Amino acid sequence: MITEIHPGIYYVGVNDRTTTRFESLWSLPQGVSYNAYLVVGEKVALIDTVEEAFAGRLEANIREIIADRKIDYLMVNHMEPDHSSSIAALRRIYPEMRIVGNAKALQMIAGFYGIDGGMVEAKENDTLDLGGLTLTFQMIPMVHWPETMVTWCPERRTLFSGDAFGTFGALDGGIVDSQIDPERYWDEMRRYYACIVGKYGAPVQRALQKVRALPVETICSTHGPVWQREIGRVLDVYDRLSRYEGERGAVVAYASMYGNTERMAERIARELVAGGMRQVRVYNLSYADPSVVLRDVFRFDTLIVGSPTYNGALFPPVAELLDRIAARCIPERKFGCFGSFTWCGAAARLLGEFAQKMKWKQLCEPVEMCQGFGPEWYESCRKLVGCVLNDRSEH
Ligand code: FEO
Repeated sequence: MITEIHPGIYYVGVNDRTTTRFESLWSLPQGVSYNAYLVVGEKVALIDTVEEAFAGRLEANIREIIADRKIDYLMVNHMEPDHSSSIAALRRIYPEMRIVGNAKALQMIAGFYGIDGGMVEAKENDTLDLGGLTLTFQMIPMVHWPETMVTWCPERRTLFSGDAFGTFGALDGGIVDSQIDPERYWDEMRRYYACIVGKYGAPVQRALQKVRALPVETICSTHGPVWQREIGRVLDVYDRLSRYEGERGAVVAYASMYGNTERMAERIARELVAGGMRQVRVYNLSYADPSVVLRDVFRFDTLIVGSPTYNGALFPPVAELLDRIAARCIPERKFGCFGSFTWCGAAARLLGEFAQKMKWKQLCEPVEMCQGFGPEWYESCRKLVGCVLNDRSEH
């Protein structure tokens, strides 16, 4: 079924409800869409493609709109294979189709797919006239790869934004946000951002500046709904996340081998809420979905981590979370930590070293428990939470 977003602009993307891990890493409980768009003037342009397993569906969607007309141009806003791996198949179907991308994208197309003919290099503010509609290119490097760019159609005030403003979650019948209840996408947008784009806050901020300079009325991202009504909220979510600005709330992330560290985590969570914090998320890192934990580390301003000492080091799932956070260069969180050991402690010290490495202010001494948890630890938990709740510094 054809979705005409504006006269001459069509949605031709697909849903993927079978891949279980995006980038072989991140869970997809609600699927994901790979969005592509057809812009039809006197000439026809396709903007991005889809993951190669869905190339046949993409072709069918295109033919539903243009039948046997040819595609004149393929704009490659982003080369990650979830958007580019159908390029070779499309080139076989439309051999005269010229491929438009910036120099880095064209180099990657040759490297990934062995295609090096029929290319047009796009530079900043270059314009392609389709006859009736024009497309202009602006570079937004590192959102999320170095070759990323956006394509702007001024006649329709429509921005084809690549990964920027995307979200996990397939499209359940509706393509444009005005057709659906968008509520289910906000958490998926944060999870997508934290996992995929989270390292690139400064480039996202630069991209936001460019977008705000345009009279955008429609954003066509590569994942998730087409944004019209909700553009303000979408820009706000991306702005807040890319400034790493946490809202008031705490993640208590712990692992526990025999339940003692877990009981301390539960106690800390109870103290946080008793102290007035309403947004508290507690995760057992041995079982929690890492992408969900990361999402909430981006979302909230406070992180409290607990780990047993294991082989003289942090318990492995805790170390993995800290690695993911360090890889995303999150500049500040209100940080507290607690640890446990049986005969020789290391976890609390290592959690403190993590905070130092991140240049985060550690709000108080870690609570380090020897062996079993009991009422003698209640006061230490209360003090740790007191330090967190009473901290007034801005993050
Ligand atoms: Fe959806 Fe960076 O690719």
